[in-house]
Amino acid sequence: MKIHQFDVVVVGAGGAGLMAALYASKTASTAVISKLYPMRSHTGTAQGGVGAALGNYEEDHPEWHTFDTVKGSDYLGDQDAIEFMCQEAVTSVYELEHMGLPFSRTPDGRIAQRPFGGHTNNLTGKPVRRSCYAADRTGHMILQTLYQQCIKNKINFFDEFQVLDLILINGVAQGVVAIELATGEMHIFHANAVIIATGGYGRIWKITSNAYSSTGDGVAITLRRGLPIEDMEFFQFHPTGIYKLGILITEGARGEGGILLNGKGERFMEHYAPHVKDLASRDVISRAMYTEIREGRGINGQDYLYLDIRPETVNKYAALDGRTQPDGSPYRVTGDDILARLPDIVDFCRTYLGVDPVEQPMPVQPTAHYAMGGIPTNLLGQVVMDEKNTILPGLYAAGEVACVSVHGANRLGTNSLVDLIVFGRHAGLDAAKYALGSQFKTLPNDVADFSIEQLDRLRKNKNGTEKISKITEEMRTTMMDHVGIFRTNEGMSASLTKIRELQDRFLQIKIQDGGKVFNTELLNAWELGNLLDLAEVVTISAIARTESRGAHSREDFPNRDDQEWLKHSLAWSEDGKIRLGYKPVTITKYQPKERVY
Ligand code: FUM
Repeated sequence: MKIHQFDVVVVGAGGAGLMAALYASKTASTAVISKLYPMRSHTGTAQGGVGAALGNYEEDHPEWHTFDTVKGSDYLGDQDAIEFMCQEAVTSVYELEHMGLPFSRTPDGRIAQRPFGGHTNNLTGKPVRRSCYAADRTGHMILQTLYQQCIKNKINFFDEFQVLDLILINGVAQGVVAIELATGEMHIFHANAVIIATGGYGRIWKITSNAYSSTGDGVAITLRRGLPIEDMEFFQFHPTGIYKLGILITEGARGEGGILLNGKGERFMEHYAPHVKDLASRDVISRAMYTEIREGRGINGQDYLYLDIRPETVNKYAALDGRTQPDGSPYRVTGDDILARLPDIVDFCRTYLGVDPVEQPMPVQPTAHYAMGGIPTNLLGQVVMDEKNTILPGLYAAGEVACVSVHGANRLGTNSLVDLIVFGRHAGLDAAKYALGSQFKTLPNDVADFSIEQLDRLRKNKNGTEKISKITEEMRTTMMDHVGIFRTNEGMSASLTKIRELQDRFLQIKIQDGGKVFNTELLNAWELGNLLDLAEVVTISAIARTESRGAHSREDFPNRDDQEWLKHSLAWSEDGKIRLGYKPVTITKYQPKERVY
């Protein structure tokens, strides 16, 4: 067993992890541990942009961004955190620009911006150009830019190391335990501060935009260590995943004028969100799509719809909407404009579907996309562990794994990238400050035992009969059918029973690979255990919340209930059972109102 010592250890090398590491490394010795090569992190798939009220084309203000985010969250987001994020978004985007991020440009050389769902001019209610983009590769460019900076700062990278456990000594974080994929050897990373930035857990659902690596490791590890997780019932479905595959087609496609059409050729969003139509928030659009499909208006009666970005369609609806270019002339696009602004999604559709979006509409369906819930933190990224927001010394979380909470019940597009740069930076800064003022504690000899036990239990199950693939498929199907866009007590209770059956069957998994070198089968099994544990918490939290809010839409409780439910949920794992608690939402300026789009 190898032992390493750093002031700060960051787990995960996506945008939040790299930003945190970059800032921590300015003063403290810093390591990044990642189960992937950093450039394969899921941030790389974020397409349409990072939101910041730069006002490069038209009037915009961080206050408008703040209000839109509060409204988009269905008033469950903490308003102090949202205001902080939207104010800091502007300087954070300029910082990325100064680091060299190749943003697309306005004709006069400033950062280009496009409209995105739920982002509005607060005076007119019309969509505002707030998403700062690098074609449809914004996340990829953020990752590249931050990684270059981290290399320049000589940060220590431990690539292809899977973190299995968090070291807590007398209630203080003191590092993590990890397995090296290439050798199967266990490593102890002793650190005065740990920043968890492992991303989300969208692989729980059958149709998902999430990478294979999005298995909720950080959330599951902290849950097992007795810490609470927050607002797990809120999981976002992005409206436009490629049919059957779930791969993301950016909301930027609608920002550039793309239209959603049903099987009758109707622009159905006119009925559901008459003001902003195809640029309503994601929860609203995903529900509308599901309703169209359920009522038989899918394409040829099937379970998909069309997203149409053909220039003739875009230009026709832009004229009907009276949409203009920044100079006031009528909005028009050509095939070349589409190729320049959305090259990756054109490529994905040509490659995976044999559909050319410049000439044909794209078949799409809602796809599981983003976890609003996660490890509770404050504005500095410090993990908090109860209803009173008591800080756990030395432990931080940032990015999708964390719940600050800036997204509340529904995240606005582009706010994930803002979240990870703003809170990644603060987590890194505060972790370094804390670590440099702390003493390393002596580690007990058995510090890796829990990690070894977890793997041994899987590895030594010689008489097992169950397969990882089968349990995975059954989990993903039941969660998609019953804990997806629309939910009922009956469906979710059936799903909970199924998940518990799968947890039992998980104990009977047989691992064929008895080796140590790159035993990905063993680690896939461990990841499946994480997903099952989180699926249970999602479902229990969702059954308990007897209202509809944001992405949590109950057919048996169709209304938002602020009297009873304007509160965050917390879930603890105690003696194998999930216990729920609640804490208040921080309201500063905006009293809850009905959302109208
Ligand atoms: O649609 C998109 O490009 C996704 C962006 C996001 O999730 O923020």
